[in-house]
Amino acid sequence: MKSLAILEAIVAVYDDWGIGDGATQPVVLSADRAHFRSVTAGAAVIVGRKTMEDFPHGRPLKGRYNIVVTRQDMKIPEAEVVHSTEEALAAAARHERCIVLGGASIFDQFFPYIQKAYITKIGCCPESSRFFPDLDALPDWQCIEESPLYEENGIPYRFCLYERSVEGGDNHVKRQ
Ligand SMILES: NC(=O)c1ccc[n+]([C@@H]2O[C@H](COP(=O)([O-])OP(=O)(O)OC[C@H]3O[C@@H](n4cnc5c(N)ncnc54)[C@H](OP(=O)(O)O)[C@@H]3O)[C@@H](O)[C@H]2O)c1
Repeated sequence: MKSLAILEAIVAVYDDWGIGDGATQPVVLSADRAHFRSVTAGAAVIVGRKTMEDFPHGRPLKGRYNIVVTRQDMKIPEAEVVHSTEEALAAAARHERCIVLGGASIFDQFFPYIQKAYITKIGCCPESSRFFPDLDALPDWQCIEESPLYEENGIPYRFCLYERSVEGGDNHVKRQ
């Protein structure tokens, strides 16, 4: 019997579910970076080429299996380079756990396959040009865990975990 892998996502959203403006995140919290490191440690991750270049030193993340999506013919040390969503899904299926890190175009394309989403809600609303789907408005998504409200530099935030209900669609990746 073929086993199944489930894609997860991790993303920080502002009050309007904005996630970034152009190439950058206008507001970043150090507590969220620590949460990101903790959630993604040891997992495989899917990341768009532009978001990877926004990582420290523009390199893949250490301690994770990086699957970088690009249409370019390029080699990236310590990353598996893939050229389509299908290729990324096949690579993801070889791993027990795979987390989609974005950016916006990657979240859009992989959203149907995402079953679980770690959402950091940052309580402010800077101008965004990129958005994550508002999971509170989607009936097949539920918030199943919510941290207390914390604060960093006067900005409130909380960590939430959302899950898609089983009948919510094609959210499994077949393992090879
Ligand atoms: N708030 C958060 O937690 C968070 C997290 C991550 C990112 N972001 C935000 O997201 C934004 C960046 O997102 P983005 O959409 O501009 O860039 P992106 O999704 O990180 O990367 C886009 C690139 O991925 C490659 N790509 C996308 N779809 C592909 C496909 N089907 N096949 C092959 N390659 C594909 C292309 O690379 P090539 O050009 O090399 O072909 C494309 O230019 C920024 O605003 C950033 O701050 C926010």
